[in-house]
Amino acid sequence: MKISPLQIGNLEIKVPIIQGGMGIGVSLSRLAAAVAEEGGMGVISGAQIGFREQDFQTNSKEANIRALKKEIKKAKELSPNGVIGLNLMVAMNNYEEMVAAAVESGIDAIISGAGLPTILPKLVKGSNTKIAPIVSSGKAAKLMCKVWDEKHSYIPDFIVVEGPKAGGHLGFHSEELLEGKESSLEDIVKDVIEVVKQYEEKYKVKIPVIAAGGIYTGKDIGKFLKLGASGVQMGTRFICTEECDADIKYKEAFINCSKEDIQIIKSPVGLPGRAIKNQFIERITKEKDKVDRCFGCLRKCNPNNTIYCISKALINAVEGNIENGLLFTGSNGYKMNKIITVKELIEQLVGEVINYE
Ligand SMILES: Cc1cc2nc3c(=O)[nH]c(=O)nc-3n(C[C@H](O)[C@H](O)[C@H](O)COP(=O)(O)O)c2cc1C
Repeated sequence: MKISPLQIGNLEIKVPIIQGGMGIGVSLSRLAAAVAEEGGMGVISGAQIGFREQDFQTNSKEANIRALKKEIKKAKELSPNGVIGLNLMVAMNNYEEMVAAAVESGIDAIISGAGLPTILPKLVKGSNTKIAPIVSSGKAAKLMCKVWDEKHSYIPDFIVVEGPKAGGHLGFHSEELLEGKESSLEDIVKDVIEVVKQYEEKYKVKIPVIAAGGIYTGKDIGKFLKLGASGVQMGTRFICTEECDADIKYKEAFINCSKEDIQIIKSPVGLPGRAIKNQFIERITKEKDKVDRCFGCLRKCNPNNTIYCISKALINAVEGNIENGLLFTGSNGYKMNKIITVKELIEQLVGEVINYE
């Protein structure tokens, strides 16, 4: 099939693939710029992005804001003509300050999930930054469009629809996921395309709908484009690339894992997540982990009764301390068997889409 660019207002993304933001530290400037250079949208994860700053332990807010600005600058230097986005979770503390820092640094787009980003239009007002909520149902898409329209006279520049096979936190109940009773990504994408029609007519613009979760091959991409999606967001597939910002041991954990190693877990964010089973997961499913210091990352987490510190677990993982780390993955995380470059991956995917009927 013919590949059309993904058009988001004045932004043209030649290859309609958005590399999903992956925190903590899995998608930073290196990965995002490499994807942007190949014509996709590269997305930096803003989650605890300052973890390598010297003052992160003592002043994580300042460290995060400083690191965010640095990473956006670096990505733009590495890919001056590419499109760079930022993923920010609504559930995180200092959300407003992080949005402001990103807008000031000239970020092209902000994608926000793990909660509904109801105030985002107000935060980016007057800038060129495009904004997108992440939703997991037609109902959530409807609510986002309604709230943004009524409160801000604005509608999403694009919408990311994340289905049950995605990596990271999932917008479904654990029971639905464990029993396989959740709606399929195909059905949710169709629902969201229906929901946005009314707003596309009202505002006389197209709202591109982006499918995410379990998309692994060009054939998968082709299937969603045929269904009416304007593009896809892929996370897991970019982990085993040379440019992915995580430690080599992190990437090797994916290469070495099998389908049976992937399981649904509880997260302090209050949503279920999908992760690779390891010593850390075995430990926290048996007993509560001791939290010796709080990074103040989540609005709703209480360090006294959380099952584990998610910041510490994700930082351990990305730095290669796998036994004590949390490795989020999409349902296809076991399929990768070698590390390739982003260029090779995108060329392969584009070739497969072109051959898709
Ligand atoms: C390791 C990992 C970390 C992730 N971190 C985040 C995050 O911080 N915020 C977010 O909104 N999504 C996060 N995601 C979700 C991705 O952005 C993407 O939507 C999802 O992985 C798509 O599904 P796929 O992995 O099957 O391609 C993460 C996914 C993975 C695999």
